Amino acid sequence: MSKIIVIGAAGQIGTELVLALRKLNGEHRVVAADLKDSCPPLLAGGAYVKMDILDRDFVREYIIKNEIKEVYLLAALLSATAEKNPDFAWKLNMEGLFTVLDLAKEGYISKIFWPSSIAVFGPTTPMDNTPQHTIMEPSTVYGISKQAGERWCEYYFNKFNVDVRSIRYPGLISYKSLPGGGTTDYAVDIFYKAKAGEKFTCFLKEDTALPMMFMDDAINATIQLMEAPAENIKIRSAYNLGGISFTPKTISKAIQKEIPSFEIDYQPDFRQAIADSWPNSIDDTNAKKEWGWNHKFDLEAMVKVMLENVKVELLETK
Ligand code: NAD
Ligand code: SER
Repeated sequence: MSKIIVIGAAGQIGTELVLALRKLNGEHRVVAADLKDSCPPLLAGGAYVKMDILDRDFVREYIIKNEIKEVYLLAALLSATAEKNPDFAWKLNMEGLFTVLDLAKEGYISKIFWPSSIAVFGPTTPMDNTPQHTIMEPSTVYGISKQAGERWCEYYFNKFNVDVRSIRYPGLISYKSLPGGGTTDYAVDIFYKAKAGEKFTCFLKEDTALPMMFMDDAINATIQLMEAPAENIKIRSAYNLGGISFTPKTISKAIQKEIPSFEIDYQPDFRQAIADSWPNSIDDTNAKKEWGWNHKFDLEAMVKVMLENVKVELLETK
């Protein structure tokens, strides 16, 4: 049976994706790979390899030797971290993608998942119900790297028949692992403060609407996209994916329904400009039509699950 690797497996998405893929395919078939010395305790049941995606020779040798046929490439710098180190963000976000695309072009890999983001859009994009095909002038290094990545994915599909699939994830909200430096991280951080009985100071203004999604929906979408017949995948750049759209004020009100004493105040920082350049909500008609996507969690359901499951102790592992 062919093997699957998730590179960037110790991150917010990787942790849950590895768990879901192992449940579907068996523990022995899914290798978790990350720059970190050791694997997150949640993934201890299966294989782990310390891998730097920028070490092209090591990555090539590992994938070829172990006959890995499916790659989920998640290693990247996210929007806020990338703005602090633009040169390195560009290098990390692009070079790893080429290593994997080239392995597929040479016939070693048969399928790739590489995530894009709502960050591909920019200040000139229509902000409400943003269409799949529209003006895209991203103003962050992260968004520029994701847009370039999308173009390269489509190019490798058209020129070399590489089966690469992608989603423009919105901000993802989860409790099994911590987020890794994005502009939408406030919508996770808020739950840790609420659960600890502390006031939350938000780094975005109260009325900043952004597209968001609960992690279970994002993992289901990823697996659904990867399992869809190739002929259903009409878009080889990346699919828009809608979920829920809310502002810091709306989510704080939803939390106050569960914890009436919860308090929030606002001290916007450099991330406000990033958020202001992104859409408020997303039109995902193509994903619905072409591979049957639909989200399950609305704001209330997501808030309930988060408050039930967030463990404040996880912050100590940061
Ligand atoms: P994360 O920061 O939580 O995890 C990234 C993981 O990659 C970390 O475990 C890190 O150790 C690892 N990594 C970093 N450099 C590496 C290297 N050189 N070699 C190997 N591993 C390395 O990020 P995430 O939130 O899980 O995001 C995963 C992917 O999804 C990224 O491409 C990101 O742009 C995209 N995405 C995420 C979101 C979100 O809200 N989380 C939204 C849109 C897109
Ligand atoms: N959640 C991501 C970020 O804020 C969006 O790609 O960077």
